[in-house]
Amino acid sequence: MKGWVFFVLLTVVLLSCQQRPAEQGAQKEQRPAEVATQQVAQAKDAEALAQQKGCMACHAKNEKKVGPSYAAVAQKYAGRADAVDYLAGKIKNGGVGVWGQVPMPAQNVTDQEARDLAKWVLSTK
Ligand code: HEC
Repeated sequence: MKGWVFFVLLTVVLLSCQQRPAEQGAQKEQRPAEVATQQVAQAKDAEALAQQKGCMACHAKNEKKVGPSYAAVAQKYAGRADAVDYLAGKIKNGGVGVWGQVPMPAQNVTDQEARDLAKWVLSTK
């Protein structure tokens, strides 16, 4: 079972690397069960990535630490259409003044990692 999830994940990663925009429509035709499995796998992966990148030193899902809880961030931007882009930019470049005067330093993540992390943060509400 674990191996299968990993295989699906690997396929998704490979596909998303190679995919040209015109091909993205085709992917939407996946059956809902497959999509749900991938989302669960991606959420677990993003959480592991957050651990690995040291995000959890300053953030927790449900409590304020040095930075805001991810649940609070998710709630704040729940209605914002460009929330993934906005938060991915913040994760990559850092920021200050939204939640207080403590700055978040720029994080050592790729654009893709920043987007995956942003999507995961938004899913924690
Ligand atoms: C050194 C501590 C620290 C680390 C490490 C850190 N953050 Fe933050 N983070 C903060 C602080 C402080 C804020 C609040 C900044 C502000 O008020 O604008 C913040 C804010 C955020 C926000 C909300 C931004 C906004 O504009 O509302 C997100 C999302 C976030 N962090 C994600 C992450 C992710 C993902 C990582 C790991 C790649 C990470 N953070 C690593 C301290 C940290």
